[in-house]
Amino acid sequence: MRQKIIAGNWKMYKTNSEAARLVRQMANRLEKNPAKKCKVIVCPPFTALSTVNEVLKNSKIEFGAQNLYGEVEGAYTGEISAKMIKSTGAKWVIIGHSERRRYFKEDENTINRKIQVALENKLKVIFCVGETLEERNQNLTKDIVLNQVEWGLKGFSEKELKNIVIAYEPVWAIGTGKTASPKQAQDVHAFLREMLDALFESNISQKMPILYGGSVKPENAKGLFEQPDIDGALVGGACLKADSFHKIIKSGEKVF
Ligand code: PGA
Repeated sequence: MRQKIIAGNWKMYKTNSEAARLVRQMANRLEKNPAKKCKVIVCPPFTALSTVNEVLKNSKIEFGAQNLYGEVEGAYTGEISAKMIKSTGAKWVIIGHSERRRYFKEDENTINRKIQVALENKLKVIFCVGETLEERNQNLTKDIVLNQVEWGLKGFSEKELKNIVIAYEPVWAIGTGKTASPKQAQDVHAFLREMLDALFESNISQKMPILYGGSVKPENAKGLFEQPDIDGALVGGACLKADSFHKIIKSGEKVF
């Protein structure tokens, strides 16, 4: 059985006090109504990681960062290293999000390097892939995700790959309210699994969770989670309210 995961990407939202309040509300809901099947992860901005760690001390919710810099340390003004993230108590980091690819011009080499430093520092990785609308319309979806996975995961050992989760996030579905239909998502997830099978040995394809991301909401989560190759979600907008995030977790608990 693959690990099921509901992760929240807070993006550039929430000050420290807002983050503490939100994560406390989430933890309270989960205390009353525990998630037994899904691992729950929140990814607040860097500035709130230590605060979130304090609030989550006795909770099963895990947390992570949304990015890191692909060097161990050095004169890189304004950047944050894997070791710094790890020192906050974080276990996870999102790498290769389409907003990083698009606004900060992160390419496959940069992403591969970032995954490497994350793993070297014992951070688990949520590695994002996905096509733009233009690419989908040109029938390029599979070529795009193949290239992203092949380069992004290049050079990692079987042991390292166990600490990586893929998030398929079609760019046209992120923050747009337009979700991929369960079938559209399932098609790409199944393809990703076939690809993992071709690229790596030892059943990695059957073990690696593949999350779906892109306008996941309480209303559409169930249909997505019912698909055989969808192992959970990376949620943006709907994770900024404890209530809607909890409803998505509950859908997972029902389906998985
Ligand atoms: P969204 O974002 O749920 O707001 O579409 C998802 C993501 O960017 O990870």
